[in-house]
Amino acid sequence: MSDKGLVVVIGATGPLGKECVLALESQGYHVRAASRRVEVAREMLLKSVKNPSRVDFVHVDVLENSVLSSVLKDAHAVFFCASASAGWRVPGTSKNTPKQVDYLGAVHVAEAAAQAKVKRLVLVSSAMVTNRTSFPYLFLNSSFGRIMHWKRQGELGVIETHEKNPEMAYTIVRPGHLINEASKGAKSIMVDQGDRISWRVSRADVAQICCACLQVENTMNATFEVAGRKQATSQSNPPDTYEALLTTIKPDKKLSTTGQS
Ligand SMILES: NC(=O)c1ccc[n+]([C@@H]2O[C@H](COP(=O)([O-])OP(=O)(O)OC[C@H]3O[C@@H](n4cnc5c(N)ncnc54)[C@H](OP(=O)(O)O)[C@@H]3O)[C@@H](O)[C@H]2O)c1
Repeated sequence: MSDKGLVVVIGATGPLGKECVLALESQGYHVRAASRRVEVAREMLLKSVKNPSRVDFVHVDVLENSVLSSVLKDAHAVFFCASASAGWRVPGTSKNTPKQVDYLGAVHVAEAAAQAKVKRLVLVSSAMVTNRTSFPYLFLNSSFGRIMHWKRQGELGVIETHEKNPEMAYTIVRPGHLINEASKGAKSIMVDQGDRISWRVSRADVAQICCACLQVENTMNATFEVAGRKQATSQSNPPDTYEALLTTIKPDKKLSTTGQS
């Protein structure tokens, strides 16, 4: 086991989950790639990691909470990257709905993480999830099984689980529209709080941000958005590391007491 500890990635066969596994492994974490398709995960990831001994593979379906404690055993952190969005079906034909995966699945994982004494939970949600009049909210919520509503319920369920188990810190990362492009570095993205920004951002950059959260203490118990910059920043000296970018993030409680949330 590496000195940096074990991080479990739930939804490791998803496009963002895969980037998270690769980013964590390249930074020296031991990674447990948890997914419903273990053989696909193994084949997809082993050819890309630097050190295959730093990755192990386990089966997980977040609808089955009885197995989650063994999946999370000995982990320092867990990333929740699963979503029903990839598995959209005609309503009523699948149990794999946003309510089941993005809401109840996230709560199952949070509760199991708290029980297993996991210190950090990083939940990937979505930009505009509280902005009910925005185009992304209205479009996604009406066409994809009320996914924005259920993603927000997942966020609230995770926060509630933390409140009952304060030793497990949460971070909610809300990306804009995800694209498959190589990382362009910290200077190409921006973070914000208050659900005000949404713009396309590469999964590779979001994965780096999720990893950086583990190193930046003020992201504990915080919710923030991440989006690509539409154009080169006018800031004279934009942060050039993901960690430096995150130093502006404030815990949710501090935002609500200063009236910023
Ligand atoms: N796409 C966007 O533009 C966008 C924008 C903002 C936020 N997001 C959010 O960002 C996250 C990552 O998105 P993405 O597009 O990279 O991934 P994705 O295509 O939504 O894939 C998520 C993965 O979740 C896994 N999954 C589904 N049901 C599961 C279950 N019951 N148990 C365990 N795993 C399950 C699936 O893998 P298997 O089928 O292999 O199990 C799937 O590949 C999601 O939460 C998404 O909602 C996406």
